[in-house]
Amino acid sequence: MSARIFLATGNPHKVEEVQHILGPAWRVEGRDPGVEETGETFEENALIKARAVAAATGEVAIADDSGIEIDALGGAPGVRSARWAAEGDWIPRVLRELEGVPDERRTCRYVCAAAVVWPGPAPREMVVRGTVEGVVAHAPRGTGGFGYDPIMVPVEGDGRTFAEMTPAEKHALSHRGRAFRELARHLVD
Ligand code: IMP
Repeated sequence: MSARIFLATGNPHKVEEVQHILGPAWRVEGRDPGVEETGETFEENALIKARAVAAATGEVAIADDSGIEIDALGGAPGVRSARWAAEGDWIPRVLRELEGVPDERRTCRYVCAAAVVWPGPAPREMVVRGTVEGVVAHAPRGTGGFGYDPIMVPVEGDGRTFAEMTPAEKHALSHRGRAFRELARHLVD
């Protein structure tokens, strides 16, 4: 028997990835938290979303807030990764802004804050962070994953972008895999 758990997101890619990471013990259901991401950190935004869904449903809720930090852009788009440009322009804009920048200065990382909120008279919450270091490719490669995956080459990998990997290969290295495997250790206590 799997236990249902709400994931505070309107992004079906995140539901699919978190389901895959948590495995069959959990049945992950996406719920749009319907709140503004007003936090200044990934952790604050993850907690804002998980609190909203825990309050609306009266059940335990988890959330993901994530993004890419590009060192040559001063850490942008960072916590604003989803709002930095129109979705179709995310990758073109990164490649334009990094034009002529050599490999050694194309360093970046994916960051994921994973939060859980248990509702009730004495609510409890926790948030953990997972990261993966990478290099921004010179052109997009691959069709898997979502978002910035076609230009993100993890340094612990074999030179492929995340979009060229199977889901299992991506989750083994990814920020989201790391954060939610850590969170999962605290979900049943
Ligand atoms: P959020 O919904 O505010 O957490 O925005 C996360 C945004 O960061 C996504 O819309 C993507 O643009 C980017 N992002 C986060 N995780 C990933 C990933 O695993 N692959 C590619 N892009 C990601």
